[in-house]
Amino acid sequence: MGTSSEATLSSGHRLADDVRRDLQASPKRLQPRYLYDALGSQLFEAICELPEYRITRSELHLLTTHGAAIGAGMRSPLIVVELGGGNGEKLAVLLSGLVDAGVDLTVELVDVSATALELAARTLARFPAIRVTPHQTTYEAGLQHIGEQRIAEGRPGGMLVAFLGSNIGNLDPSAARRFLTMIRGGFRSGDRLVLGTDLVKPESELVAAYDDVLGVTAAFNKNLLVRLNRELGANFDLDRFAHRAVWNAAESRVEMHLESLRAQTVSIPGADCVVAFAAGESIWTESSYKYESAALAALGADVGLARHDQWVDEDAHFAVTTFNAV
Ligand code: AVI
Repeated sequence: MGTSSEATLSSGHRLADDVRRDLQASPKRLQPRYLYDALGSQLFEAICELPEYRITRSELHLLTTHGAAIGAGMRSPLIVVELGGGNGEKLAVLLSGLVDAGVDLTVELVDVSATALELAARTLARFPAIRVTPHQTTYEAGLQHIGEQRIAEGRPGGMLVAFLGSNIGNLDPSAARRFLTMIRGGFRSGDRLVLGTDLVKPESELVAAYDDVLGVTAAFNKNLLVRLNRELGANFDLDRFAHRAVWNAAESRVEMHLESLRAQTVSIPGADCVVAFAAGESIWTESSYKYESAALAALGADVGLARHDQWVDEDAHFAVTTFNAV
């Protein structure tokens, strides 16, 4: 995820249009992709190191332990595709397992962020024998291109698509379904998806993961307002907004909000609007959906992806699941 907003924001127009529309909606919201400017991406890296935020460590542990099994039985030479992999560290761990198991493979990286692709390519340079091809584009366009290339080159091996880091959790259920349908659409029989997914766990753990004692996640969230002040000339007073993390059990998601601590008006000249906030009114900035294992299998089955295997960190309640095209 990390810096994935970068290319889509090359024009400030899109940000301005989204902000104008979303802050005039009810409830008020801001698109989560805007969390990832340069500072936001660094803050997200810091979040991954927090004791309360266990997703990254747990996933690295599962990938280290089960890397070989994730690709087991797939046709060689394998095409490994990572969608939005950030700095490439998780993929490197997965590749180590596959290489140790003697799998012959090439890697395709898909991300809209040039910075993320450069970082990942640098990380993967530790595998000099593996051909790594970056695709600076959307997931959909990247997968389509890789599929066409596969046909043009007559590649006989399988394809393993990795979507890790619980990034699926930032999609609402219908978007998650569309996303998996899109991946399934590019699959041949025997291709596989590996998905990292955070699971439902006690509320106190969920809230702590998104409201850490050091306040890093609060800074990550409030940085959105810093960004609007800088890029759109807004006059958000950061002391008048508070970070909130709320577990919405009915929707199975942690929501991040920025709550207005008093009635106030904020002007955003770059988006050509003035926004009034009531005391206690909030801006909804992100949802992180948490899955039950069975719901995940049902989601896959719904789009033609059969659950193949699953490894669960029972302590952190995090799962790495493989799905085969049926
Ligand atoms: C990137 N994504 C999976 C993170 C999550 O857990 O939803 C983003 C994040 N937001 C707050 N903390 C981390």
